[in-house]
Amino acid sequence: MPTLWHNCHAATLAEGRYSIIENAGIVTEAGVIQWIGPLAQAPVSDEQVDLQGHWVTPGLIDCHTHLVYGGNRSGEFEQRLQGVSYADIAASGGGIANTVRATRAATEEELFNSARRRLACLQREGVTTVEIKSGYGLDLASERKMLRVIRRLGAELPVTVKATCLAAHAIPAEYKDNAAGYIGYVCNELLPALASEGLVDAVDAFCEYLAFSPAQVEQVFQTAARLGLPVKLHAEQLSSLGGASLAARYQALSADHLEFMTSADAAAMGAAGTVAVLLPGAFYFLRETRLPPMQALHDHNVAIALSTDSNPGTSPTLSLRLMMNMACTLFRLTPEQALAGVTLHAARALGLGSSHGSLEEGKVADFVAWDIEQPADLAYWLGGDLDKRIIRHGAELNFTQARQ
Ligand code: NIG
Ligand code: FE
Repeated sequence: MPTLWHNCHAATLAEGRYSIIENAGIVTEAGVIQWIGPLAQAPVSDEQVDLQGHWVTPGLIDCHTHLVYGGNRSGEFEQRLQGVSYADIAASGGGIANTVRATRAATEEELFNSARRRLACLQREGVTTVEIKSGYGLDLASERKMLRVIRRLGAELPVTVKATCLAAHAIPAEYKDNAAGYIGYVCNELLPALASEGLVDAVDAFCEYLAFSPAQVEQVFQTAARLGLPVKLHAEQLSSLGGASLAARYQALSADHLEFMTSADAAAMGAAGTVAVLLPGAFYFLRETRLPPMQALHDHNVAIALSTDSNPGTSPTLSLRLMMNMACTLFRLTPEQALAGVTLHAARALGLGSSHGSLEEGKVADFVAWDIEQPADLAYWLGGDLDKRIIRHGAELNFTQARQ
């Protein structure tokens, strides 16, 4: 039976841009938006839900997270406050390697329970779709363990979860000084096995002087192409290696971080339709000073998504709305652009552009009705909990459900 959601305004993000409908009506049926427009023109419907004058947006999409991991790195945060750099910590066996040790030691149940609590924070904020990466296992059994946890989160919680294999995140201790050997293992054994088990939706890598070279990343991308999997890339975070252009060459869904990217990279991404995922939490937490080249991104019509990059080393945040605020203050996005960055463009960064990310007929009925004065309030508040109602697949969630 169709349901008419009424007494609301909508920021629809329809047709690829920010747009609003005041006094809107939304008709959903079987989890899909059947109709959206001015309430006065809405088709008649027996079942009606009053949205109390709230502002409706698409459900928020966090398109780059590392939510599954063991341990915690607050000790390294303290070290960095004393002046030790992220690269120095990594070189002395800390950093990603630190989390790899803790993740390998954790059981699947322990990883599930800690990730579920973190994910619940995002859900309570209005996130209805999230991407989660592996990359703290770095061997077949441990990457499989992470990906199984990621799949289970999607199966058991009322949130859509995309799983990305980030086995090429760092060189594990077993392959010390043998990055080529590790990449061979990832391409010949690890990725084919995990893909055949149906655990992988996309493949990511860390292209950086303290991780993998563009040539090594290219081997991973070629493997992904053979396996029929889309790619994404951590690129140009700490140095400029041309990773963003490489990602564009492989029609990557997204290139992420990008502080050190060049105008040529932006041109390549714009031409390829590769989304730029900006991660202001990591920029802030690492006390970076080099800004992503915002003008070049705009000039080349690169779609800009925003995400938490939630991870224990460089962005321990569980608030996507805080990222919206930070993207406005630090990267000079407008609140409208920030909203598009956590809906429309985030959906595209996950290959979900045709089904998610905007309020349009035929799209999945995931939306949030916010008790706010205007949409800009979502980026205005520095995080915090705003009153809201969350609708997923056409059904209203109660907070107990989101908190499970
Ligand atoms: O997205 N850049 C690489 N990976 C993560 C950090 C991982 C970590 O330090 O644990 C990131 O920033
Ligand atoms: Fe990341």
